[in-house]
Amino acid sequence: GSSVVVLGIESSCDETGAGLVRDGRLLGHAVASSMDEHARFGGVVPEIAARAHVHALRPVVGRALDEAGLRMTDIGAVAVTAGPGLAGALQVGLAGAKGLAYGLGVPLYGVHHLAGHVAADTLAHGPLPDPCVVLIVSGGHTSLLLVRDLARDPVVHLGDTRDDAAGECFDKVARVFGLPYPGGPAIDRAARDGDPRAVAFPRPLTGPRDDPYAFSFSGLKTAAARWAESYGGRPLPVADGAASLQEAVADVLTRKAVAACLAYGVDTLVVVGGVAANSRVRSLCEERCADAGILLRVPPLRLCTDNGAMIAAVGDLLVRAGAAPAPLDLTVGPSAPL
Ligand code: KG4
Ligand code: ZN
Repeated sequence: GSSVVVLGIESSCDETGAGLVRDGRLLGHAVASSMDEHARFGGVVPEIAARAHVHALRPVVGRALDEAGLRMTDIGAVAVTAGPGLAGALQVGLAGAKGLAYGLGVPLYGVHHLAGHVAADTLAHGPLPDPCVVLIVSGGHTSLLLVRDLARDPVVHLGDTRDDAAGECFDKVARVFGLPYPGGPAIDRAARDGDPRAVAFPRPLTGPRDDPYAFSFSGLKTAAARWAESYGGRPLPVADGAASLQEAVADVLTRKAVAACLAYGVDTLVVVGGVAANSRVRSLCEERCADAGILLRVPPLRLCTDNGAMIAAVGDLLVRAGAAPAPLDLTVGPSAPL
C-alpha cells in the first residue's frame, strides 16, 4: 500500500497522546497526562481521566502537528486506540478520531492498545523480526506475546498475569511503603539505596510444575504488606524493601521472558510498557539476554509509556498492508482481546 501521514490517538488511561508516523518513521508526537489529578486518590479515577482527555485532545494533536511541521490537512489516515482501557476515556479519543477522520475525509483504523505498545519499538529500532517475543509490562498489563506480523496475524498470548499487573504491584506496594504515586518510579528511586537481598520475597509461579509463562503479583503485594506490618510502627527500611521487591519482580519477568525465547527458538526479545523503564528490569534483562545470546530491544522511555505515536505506528503498518479501515460506527472495546 502507499504511505500517508498517519495520526495516532491514545486515550485508554490517564495519558492523552497524539503521534504522527509515515513509513515507519516518527514525525512528531505529544502527550498530556492527568496523573497529577489522580495522585491524591492513589490511582486513576476514570471520570477524571475522561474529562481530562476532553480538554487535552485537541491541543495535543496540535502540538504533535507543530513538532512535525505539518498541518491538519496533511493527515492521510487516523488510528485510534479502540481498547482495552477505561470505557469513558477510550470514548473521548474515539469520538475525536472519528470527527477528524470524517472531517478530513480520510480512513479510520481501530488499534489494540497492546499492539501499540509492541509497535512502539519499531519507531526506535526499525521493523520487528518475525518472530519475536514481546514482554508487555505496565500498570494494566503483564503479558508475554509471540509476535509475527503485527498488521496481519493476531499475536499469540504465551502467558498473562492471573491477578495484578507488575506496575500495579509496584503502585500498590509503594502506597504501603508510604511512597508517592505513581509507585513504580518511586520504588525504583528508593531501591537505589537498598539491598536487593535484604528481604526474601517470593518468586511467584516459578516452580517446576507452574505455567512457565503465567505471572502472578498479588502474592508479592501481600508479602510486602506483611513485611511492612512486621515492623509494627517502627520505621521501615523502605530502601531495602523497595530493592528486594524490585529484584523479585525483575527476576520473575526476565526469567520467564528469556525462557519463552529459548523455548520458541526466538532470538529477539522486546520489552515495552511503563515498567520497562525500571532500572533493575532493564539491567537484569540485559544480563540474562546477553548470557542466552538473545538480542534485547527496549524502546526509549517516552515510547515505553502510553503515547499516540505507538498507535500511529500500528495504523501505519495497517495502511501499508492494505488493511480495511474501520467503519465510522466503530465502538470501543474496553477489554478487547488482542
Ligand atoms: O505503560 P504505562 O505508562 O501505562 C499503562 O499502564 O498502560 O505504565 C504505567 C506503569 C505504572 O504502574 C508505573 O508505576 C510503572 O508503569 N512504572 C514503573 C517505572 N516507571 C513507570 N515501574 C517500575 N519502575 C519504573 N521506573
Ligand atoms: Zn499502556
